[in-house]
Amino acid sequence: MSRRSFIAGNWKMHGSAEHVEDFSRVLVDAAPSLNCDLAICVPFVYVERLARLLEGSEIAPGAQNLSHSVEHGAHTGEISGSMLADCGADYVIVGHSERREMHGETDEVVVAKAEAAVAAGLRPIVCIGESLDQREADKTEAVLKRQISALTSGCDRQTLERMVLAYEPIWAIGTGRSATPEQAQAVHEFVRTQFADWDATIADSLPILYGGSVKPDNASALFAGADVDGALVGGASLKSDSFVGIARAMG
Ligand code: 13P
Repeated sequence: MSRRSFIAGNWKMHGSAEHVEDFSRVLVDAAPSLNCDLAICVPFVYVERLARLLEGSEIAPGAQNLSHSVEHGAHTGEISGSMLADCGADYVIVGHSERREMHGETDEVVVAKAEAAVAAGLRPIVCIGESLDQREADKTEAVLKRQISALTSGCDRQTLERMVLAYEPIWAIGTGRSATPEQAQAVHEFVRTQFADWDATIADSLPILYGGSVKPDNASALFAGADVDGALVGGASLKSDSFVGIARAMG
């Protein structure tokens, strides 16, 4: 099965209206010459502006979080999946390690958010990955196994069919210390095998992105892995030239 390459940007809590405008202009011009699908996940307040600027292009707008609740109601400060869809979002990041660590998101919350995303017509980009302590204690596979089994046992089949997975080793995020291409491929293969134990067809078509200090100069080596279908890019997605450089590395 050939999976289409996919590069998604995660701006985290960065950006401004002007930055969204400038970035979109450059990306829309570059997109026709890039051989992969593209998405940019921006802070909530910029999603609608981004979606308007990307209209008519192949680039998908996205957000970085959503409420676990499908029902609208008394959830002060929360944003639902259908509100994001209203603003033009196609994707939403779910379960980023920063949300798991700083906002107490458990595997159960991640499942509920992935379900809520799909119920609203969005594609969830679900993040998994181990900490440095867990890797050094040789627990990487056990941690990933737990995170994946929460998804395969908790999510509907339709959610898993719509899901994009991002393997983001926490020790590689924002550190400048990317996983090596061999480490990334080994984990991606392990992740796909875990899904295959549950459903071979879904495993085969599941896009698995690598995230953690991806830059234009290490991207093509990382993308050489047979199970590395693209990247979820943090810092380097804030500058249009480095984001485009990473997308070009897809060949
Ligand atoms: P960096 O690319 O800045 O390491 O961040 C990765 C990330 O967390 C993307 O979600």
